[in-house]
Amino acid sequence: MNRITTVELKNMKERGEKIVVLTAYDALFAEIEDQAGVDVILVGDSAAMVVAGHETTHPITMDQMLYHCSSVSRAVKKALVVADMPFLSFQVSIENAVYNAGRFLKESGMQAVKLEGGVPIADTVRRLVDLGIPVMGHLGLTPQSIHRFGSYEVRARDEVEALQLKKDAQTLEEAGAFSIVLEKIPRKLAAEVTKSLKIPTIGIGSGPECDGQVLVNYDMLGLYDKFKPRFVRRYLEMAKSVSQAVQKYCGDIRSGKFPSDKESY
Ligand code: KIV
Repeated sequence: MNRITTVELKNMKERGEKIVVLTAYDALFAEIEDQAGVDVILVGDSAAMVVAGHETTHPITMDQMLYHCSSVSRAVKKALVVADMPFLSFQVSIENAVYNAGRFLKESGMQAVKLEGGVPIADTVRRLVDLGIPVMGHLGLTPQSIHRFGSYEVRARDEVEALQLKKDAQTLEEAGAFSIVLEKIPRKLAAEVTKSLKIPTIGIGSGPECDGQVLVNYDMLGLYDKFKPRFVRRYLEMAKSVSQAVQKYCGDIRSGKFPSDKESY
């Protein structure tokens, strides 16, 4: 089976083929998503929230991300696997970023890393790419900056922030990034940025003109229901189904219906 590569993603943009990206944090979901035809599986630091139950993405550590990434990469045969670099794993120094990004490739079989930020991390991106570590950028509502933003509102609505975002996107492309996630920015701005770049943009809450789309798997499966942003489309209501199944299990045990004779030895 031919593995999807970062080069193939650029070719897909040229051919006008949409790129499908979905998160995964464990081998079970990663295998299902890979076999269902997802192009890129992102091990997001959203794991901090949807798996570990934190309020933000900040607490997740390198070692915890390496564990999730190893589980995912073991299960995936075709999709490109991308590791999200957690908060403080790439901001301290370029050397530190190289070491941490390298660990994702060396220790957990990932093929690329994703970093949040634009111009301020351009030198880091350039260095990683020069050393053979493919980088996906991430602009707009970058969750690691939530305390600076103060809310999960749409970003780059005003002209100053929109101009900065365009500059960030251009800079990331020049630094060698193979793709950029655009999170929760106005549709018109995302379309403009997408048109201006040779590398593909992957939208999340940024409209259909992006070259691809990404969602958190537990969001699109209706499993994480603490909040539901407008941009999430739920393809299942899994939390409800799981709850109903568990209630039935409780009832069956308490009423003596489970296990039956057939389920006994
Ligand atoms: O952490 C994450 O899951 C992400 C995607 C939603 C883009 O960064």
